[in-house]
Amino acid sequence: AAGLAAVAAAGTTFSLLTDANKNKAGAATNSATLTIPDLLEGTTSGSTTTFTLEAKTGTHEVISGVTSSTMGYNQDFLGPTLKWTNGDEVVLNITNDIGEDTTVHFHGAHVPPKMDGGPQVAFADGETWSPTFTVKDPATTLWYHPHALGTTAKQAVHGLAGMIIVEDSTDASAALPSDYGVDDIPLIFQSLAVDTDGDIKYEAVGYRLSTTTFPLLLNGTNVDDTTLTFSATKTRTRFRALNASPSDIITIQRSDGGTLTQISTDQGYLTEATEVSTIRLVAGARAEFVMDLSADATLQAVVTTGWIRGGSGTYDVLAVTAGGTDTPADLPSTLNTIDRYDTGDFTARTITLGQNGATMLINGSAGTAMAAMAMISTTVGAKEIWTIQNATQLEHSFHLHDVPYQLISVNGEDPTGVQLGWYDTYEVVGGGTIKIAMEFTDFADDTYMYMLHCHLLQHEDEGMMASLMVTES
Ligand code: C2O
Ligand code: CU
Repeated sequence: AAGLAAVAAAGTTFSLLTDANKNKAGAATNSATLTIPDLLEGTTSGSTTTFTLEAKTGTHEVISGVTSSTMGYNQDFLGPTLKWTNGDEVVLNITNDIGEDTTVHFHGAHVPPKMDGGPQVAFADGETWSPTFTVKDPATTLWYHPHALGTTAKQAVHGLAGMIIVEDSTDASAALPSDYGVDDIPLIFQSLAVDTDGDIKYEAVGYRLSTTTFPLLLNGTNVDDTTLTFSATKTRTRFRALNASPSDIITIQRSDGGTLTQISTDQGYLTEATEVSTIRLVAGARAEFVMDLSADATLQAVVTTGWIRGGSGTYDVLAVTAGGTDTPADLPSTLNTIDRYDTGDFTARTITLGQNGATMLINGSAGTAMAAMAMISTTVGAKEIWTIQNATQLEHSFHLHDVPYQLISVNGEDPTGVQLGWYDTYEVVGGGTIKIAMEFTDFADDTYMYMLHCHLLQHEDEGMMASLMVTES
C-alpha cells in the first residue's frame, strides 16, 4: 500500500494539481463581504459566564455551487467566537449532536487537565459535557476544536472550529481596538481538500483524486474566485488571524509590500508592536496585527507546503477599504513584559518526531491508542527545556497543551523579533530542530493528562501525539 511516506514524498513534487483557476493575486473576479462569526458572549451571573454550544451537522458551500455535508458549533459550519475575560470563571455546556464521539479542546488555554478536552475526555453523541474553570490566560487569541482520538482531522475539516478571544485589564488591552466585528476582526483560514461532489477529504492517504480541489476559506467563504471586502470605519483595525487548516501553512502579507504591525503571537502580546512584512502561521497557530489605514489595502494569503496541497499559491483574500477619519493614539511603547528564561538549570528532554511508513511517532511510539502513547511526566513547578528533533523530512507543527513556551533556538539560531514572544504551536521543518522552554504551573492531576502533538491533523491522527502527565511534586 502507498504509505504515508510515499504520499508525503510525492507531495513535495506535486504541482498545483487543479489549482489553475484559483484567485491568484490580482486575478479575482468576484467580491463579497467578509463574514464575521457571531460573537457568543455567554450569560454572566456574578463572576461566572456560561456558554452553550452544540456540535451539530449541517451543510455549507465549501466550493461555490456545491453543497457539502459539514459540521459546526451552533451553526452549519465553524462556530461562534467566544469572549472570555482573564480571572473569570467560565462554564461551557457543550452538547454532542454529530453522531459520533467528540471532544472540545480549548487550544492554548491554561486549564486543568479534566477541562482541557483532549482525547481522554471524549463524550458520546447525545451527551453534554460541562467543563468549568477560571480563565488564567492573558489577553490573546485562542481557539476551540475537537480532539478525539483518530477523528480530529475529520471533524475539524468539516467545520468544527471556532475562535476564543481572551480579554484582560492591561494597559495594552485598553489601548488596542476591541470592538468585535467593527475594529477587532477575526480571520479564520482553512486550506481544505474537497471533491467536486462536495465531499470534504481528511484521510491521511488516498485523497488526491483527480476530482479533488483545494479551496482556501476565510471565515467560511471560499476565496478561490472571490476577494472578500471589509469596510473599516476606524483608522486602526486589529486583526486576529488563526490558521485552522489541517496542515498547510498560511502566510499573511499586504499586496502592496507594506508592513503589518504585529502585536501578539499565540500566547499574548509581544513586548512591543513589531513591523513585519509577513506573518507565517503553521497549522494551529495564531497572531494578531493592527493596520492604521489612510488608504485602501489588500491582504494576501500565501498557502504553502503541506499535506493537503502539495504546492503553493498566493491569494488576494481581503480588500480593506479605509474609512476612518479619526487619528489613533500611538500604540503603547511597551505592550508586555516577557522575562526571557535563563535555562541553565532547567531540566532537559529530547522529543523526537519520527515516522515508520504510514505511522507517525513521538519518541518512537505511535499515539493512535492512549495506552501506546509515549508519556512525558513532570511536576508542578518544573522548569524544562525541550529539544524538538524532527527526524523526518516532513514539515511538522509542534503543539504543547497546558503551558506556553519560549523559543530558545530555531534550527540552531537564536530567536529574534516576533520569535521572542510566547508560543504554543511552532514550525519544525523537515530535519530541523527547535529548543523550547516552559514552566509547569498550577494544575496537576494523577489520572488525567495533557497532550503534545503535531498540529498537522493527519499526522496527529496517524500517531504523532504523546501525553503529558503533570503531578504534584
Ligand atoms: Cu489545537 Cu492538541 O490541539
Ligand atoms: Cu506533523
